[in-house]
Amino acid sequence: MARSVRGIEALVAAEIRGSGLGVVRETRHREVWFEAAPGADLRSLRTADDVLLAAAVVDGVGHDRTALRRLARAARDLGAGLMAPADGVRVLEVSASFVGRRTYTRFDIEDAVGAELARPLRLTYHSRRRGGRPPSGAMAWRVTIEGDRAVIAVRPGDRPLHRRPYKTASVRGTLHPPLAAAMARLARLEKARTVVDPCCGAGTTLIEARPFALGADVRLAGFDHDRAAVTAACANARAAAESPGGEDANGRPFAWTVADGGRIPVADGGADRVLVNPPWGRQVPPRGLLAGDLRPLWREVRRVLAADGLAVALVHDGIPRGFTVEDVVEVSLSGQHPLIAVLRPGR
Ligand SMILES: C[S@@+](CC[C@H](N)C(=O)[O-])C[C@H]1O[C@@H](n2cnc3c(N)ncnc32)[C@H](O)[C@@H]1O
Repeated sequence: MARSVRGIEALVAAEIRGSGLGVVRETRHREVWFEAAPGADLRSLRTADDVLLAAAVVDGVGHDRTALRRLARAARDLGAGLMAPADGVRVLEVSASFVGRRTYTRFDIEDAVGAELARPLRLTYHSRRRGGRPPSGAMAWRVTIEGDRAVIAVRPGDRPLHRRPYKTASVRGTLHPPLAAAMARLARLEKARTVVDPCCGAGTTLIEARPFALGADVRLAGFDHDRAAVTAACANARAAAESPGGEDANGRPFAWTVADGGRIPVADGGADRVLVNPPWGRQVPPRGLLAGDLRPLWREVRRVLAADGLAVALVHDGIPRGFTVEDVVEVSLSGQHPLIAVLRPGR
């Protein structure tokens, strides 16, 4: 089961199919169920938050506390069939989430299931009830409940997929990497030569774009008004090139430069693609020529886009004017509901 940001489930399913990672069986709220292809490298899935192996599907899980007994029994029944933890793992942790109101908390679910899973595995169950983080390397289980169906699942990897090892430097308002990967997929980057992010922050959009940008001479150019953001983007791009599986065999060039999004240093029509997550006030104030008004940014995006170019923007304040809208995907993230807009220059 792939877990996803709400709104991009179809993009996750398309990536699973398109990359030959498996056969998609069902798409649900924040979940894509699939049968993994033999030998598939599930860590290569970029648009998903996490990939889990479903151990049990429990139906009839109600909204009152009898649900806890049901879940505990389902966990107990897994017993001897449980996947063995990796060598050296001593601790087991559970993270639960549910949709809708219930008379129990996530901690009640975690404790009910965690105690039953830990016993046959001879692991120590770490409860999150008191706020303590589980030790790194703990065997990680997830319980999700939607309607009256619960899923008990285990993470085969050592970290959730959304936690990218390259992201060693950050900035305020930095983008969730799977969302950046979803933007990259929507941008159809296969043949793009110049991809621009005029408000690049820590570089997430372009670093996530790199595996999708297959042109031998592709150039990925990030700009930001804030010098610290440009420094962070450089550090992350360097770490991405060094991380396992992230080698930049073709030496594809990133270029990170301090510049104002209201005056992007790219020639007219010089960008095949623009990927942008502009500052939108609450977390990151627009500065320089964009202070108080993002219209100069959108004017510049139209100017630098090639006639057959495409901009993919994550916008919180509605779709900018002056573009032809090719697609819109509404997502939910941290209580916000931004749109991913796929835009062509001109009306
Ligand atoms: C929402 S953040 C982008 C985050 C980025 N996508 C990432 O993953 O880290 C918006 C960025 O716009 C930058 N910014 C603000 N005003 C700007 C301007 N006039 N020109 C260019 N960048 C600007 C901020 O410094 C910030 O890094």
